[in-house]
Amino acid sequence: MNTDHLVTTFVEYFEERGHRRIVGSTLLPPPGDPVLFTTSGMHPLTPYLEGRPHPLGRRLVNVQRCLRTTDLDEVGDPTHLTVFEMLGTWSLGDYDGPLSLDWGHGLLTEGLGIDPGLLYATVHAGDERSGTGPDTASLRLWEDRGVPVELTVEDNWWSNGPVGPCGPDSEIFLWSGEGPPRSTPTRDDRWVEVWNHVTMSHRRLEDGSLVPLPRRNVDTGLGLERLASLLQGKPSVFECDVFDPWRAVVPALWPLDETSLRVVCDHLRSAVVVLGDGVRPANTGRGYVLRRLVRRVLTLLWRDDPSRGIGALPDEPVRHTLDRFRQDMPPGDVVRILLEEEHRFRRLLERGRQVLARPRFRGPLTREDFHYLHDTHGLPRELVTNLRQEPGSTARSTPPARPRGRGRTPRRSPPRE
Ligand code: SER
Repeated sequence: MNTDHLVTTFVEYFEERGHRRIVGSTLLPPPGDPVLFTTSGMHPLTPYLEGRPHPLGRRLVNVQRCLRTTDLDEVGDPTHLTVFEMLGTWSLGDYDGPLSLDWGHGLLTEGLGIDPGLLYATVHAGDERSGTGPDTASLRLWEDRGVPVELTVEDNWWSNGPVGPCGPDSEIFLWSGEGPPRSTPTRDDRWVEVWNHVTMSHRRLEDGSLVPLPRRNVDTGLGLERLASLLQGKPSVFECDVFDPWRAVVPALWPLDETSLRVVCDHLRSAVVVLGDGVRPANTGRGYVLRRLVRRVLTLLWRDDPSRGIGALPDEPVRHTLDRFRQDMPPGDVVRILLEEEHRFRRLLERGRQVLARPRFRGPLTREDFHYLHDTHGLPRELVTNLRQEPGSTARSTPPARPRGRGRTPRRSPPRE
């Protein structure tokens, strides 16, 4: 089952149960929203989850593109992507969580033919600190369906940020290992989370307190590429059909180990979607996230061969990704912007090497040195650290080496170039 078929099956299943399809938004939240990118299907629906009536009614279904910078360090493992699509359903004060779980179970097992014995669920155990009790209704539903359940506290409380709508959730996991399922989702990561059903029952206020929402909503999100890869019997999301055009060209262009190949395909594909949604490289905000994605790609490509370049990328995977996300930017424009970024990064690295070769920067660097390098020469701390680890660097005292290609993206606000 390819991803398009999966989307159709999902949407029709819920339309048959009274849901109206809404059009997913772009990756860019509306002006005034504090987050840089849409991180989940519910994000554009926040006003409706907080009580505003939705023009299409109280049962909704959609497909929403999402970008999660919080998962950047996980990209390369079998399940995490930077840009992904989320299939979502909502009950705006209509049906409750157990019915949503029952439909979810029905779609997975009868609609998609998944062996019910390969499922596991987690359920909120209750939390005295916030005064929420155990989610016994969800627990009972899973018991009735014969699905094993694990109870957790933090892992089964979902919120989109420090404030806003939130509530207990029940997550559905699918066994991805060889042989019969073993252990539980929190103890064995061969249990892959595919679908999260949140009962949006509360709002978290600025002071951290929880207040009940005027009505209870249900918000569910299913990771499209994750479920597709499992249904297609693939070992990772990077091998499901949406990555076929990328895997058809990238390994031939640039031989890479599997983890680097995954990161390169993910970041290039994500950069295309971000560009297609109108973001341009910059030193702050969304543009800086884009810039970081491109620079991570280049760092991986140049690790083995500095003559490699994005200009070698053919239009086909770019066109395929733009089509998938219904973006009308010409593929040639995407590649041209990526190439400009490459040239800019090459010049920055060259400048950085020259500056760091000065006697002043040979010993350990102070905080003032990092400030000076950043403010005067546009060299972010992380780049300085990487340059000082290069073979031939004249730095006498280098910080300990960090794993290559992973864990290099700061979670705090990015420095200027
Ligand atoms: N908002 C929840 C999530 O993103 C369910 O859609 O997991």
